[in-house]
Amino acid sequence: MESDREAILSAYNSVRADQLALCDALESVADSLPSSIDRQTCLQLARAIKPLMARAHDIEEKQLFPEIRRQSQFHVSSDTVLEAFLQDHASDLYYSDEVSEALMALGRGQPSPSLEATGYLLRGFFDGLRRHIAYEGRLVALLRQPDRAN
Ligand SMILES: [Fe+2]
Repeated sequence: MESDREAILSAYNSVRADQLALCDALESVADSLPSSIDRQTCLQLARAIKPLMARAHDIEEKQLFPEIRRQSQFHVSSDTVLEAFLQDHASDLYYSDEVSEALMALGRGQPSPSLEATGYLLRGFFDGLRRHIAYEGRLVALLRQPDRAN
């Protein structure tokens, strides 16, 4: 139903904005290395990252992707694309664990791994997440179009 789709898109938009804000915050931390670290922010981000990723994956995998699969207007197999997104989610989840631990260590004033390696880890994570969100957004844009099949 149209209203269901609106609700799904609204939930997705909200979690998408939160994830992009997370990427910006992680970029600020990476930019603050090595000498301007806000330890309190690191601790807050360390605690927030995994619940946010879990919320995003829950909304996408239980609501958004099934809605995309229901659409008949896609010219490429949505299964192939969604499979790649699911692999991204698995990898993001794995890295969010490492990023959370590295932020926690930064926040405690005991960087581990090294500051340089932490910077690479943060940048690798938010670059990948932004890319994933951009690709996902292109597919979601198709859901916003009138469903020509119905
Ligand atoms: Fe996603």
